[in-house]
Amino acid sequence: MPTVVITGANRGIGLELARLCKQRGDQVIAICRHGSPALKDLEIRVEEHIDVTEQPALDQLRERLSGVSIDILINNAGILTDESLTNFSADRVRRQFEVNALGPLSVTIALLANLRPGSKVALITSRMGSIADNTSGGRYGYRMSKAALNAAGASLAYDLAEHKIAVAILHPGFVRTEMTNGSGLIDADEAAANLLARIDDLSIRSTGTFWHADGQVLPW
Ligand SMILES: NC(=O)c1ccc[n+]([C@@H]2O[C@H](COP(=O)([O-])OP(=O)(O)OC[C@H]3O[C@@H](n4cnc5c(N)ncnc54)[C@H](OP(=O)(O)O)[C@@H]3O)[C@@H](O)[C@H]2O)c1
Repeated sequence: MPTVVITGANRGIGLELARLCKQRGDQVIAICRHGSPALKDLEIRVEEHIDVTEQPALDQLRERLSGVSIDILINNAGILTDESLTNFSADRVRRQFEVNALGPLSVTIALLANLRPGSKVALITSRMGSIADNTSGGRYGYRMSKAALNAAGASLAYDLAEHKIAVAILHPGFVRTEMTNGSGLIDADEAAANLLARIDDLSIRSTGTFWHADGQVLPW
């Protein structure tokens, strides 16, 4: 039974990933700051009080998961705030860097000892992190933080290839969640299914690919 660890699993896309993995028989470990009734209903292992930006919490996570062999690590937790030239906040930009870029890298490093040859690491990024695909501007902190996450993903793909660990850099689509205030083109369960299909397809040959969850390869 594969073991899947998912951050930001209390709501949104992370919760639906957890639900789907549980349904298909995986052993799921949900990581979150605080659980939710919907997560509790899944009756899976939940590790609470893990803020991905706090190193002491990540040290604790490493201890709590000591000895657990992880087949799939999904770095899903993220935040979105809106900065424009006329509504700019360096603090908000910094916070998005901390959560969206440093967070997934720090979680991955904290759990490196739990990964084995054949394990997979998924980074849930956004096509808004693509520089080539930026046709509308704005969203400074989100775009910059996700571009930084993509850069981290490319390095992780190289560094982990020698351990036969593959890395996927995945855009989930425009998804109706709290992050988008309920707007979007698809629901979180469909996004989760698409993301899992990409993760299942991932191999060491395709490591480091920047994919839309619908299967198209995205430009950097
Ligand atoms: N929705 C979209 O259209 C869309 C598009 C492209 C990419 N994405 C990406 O998909 C991922 C999931 O987004 P979503 O739409 O499901 O958003 P969401 O509903 O807002 O959920 C975000 C999740 O991240 C967690 N989180 C935020 N800050 C955290 C921190 N410091 N430490 C630990 N957990 C933290 C939240 O936990 P709390 O409940 O504790 O805040 C929540 O579980 C994100 O990385 C997002 O950037 C989403």
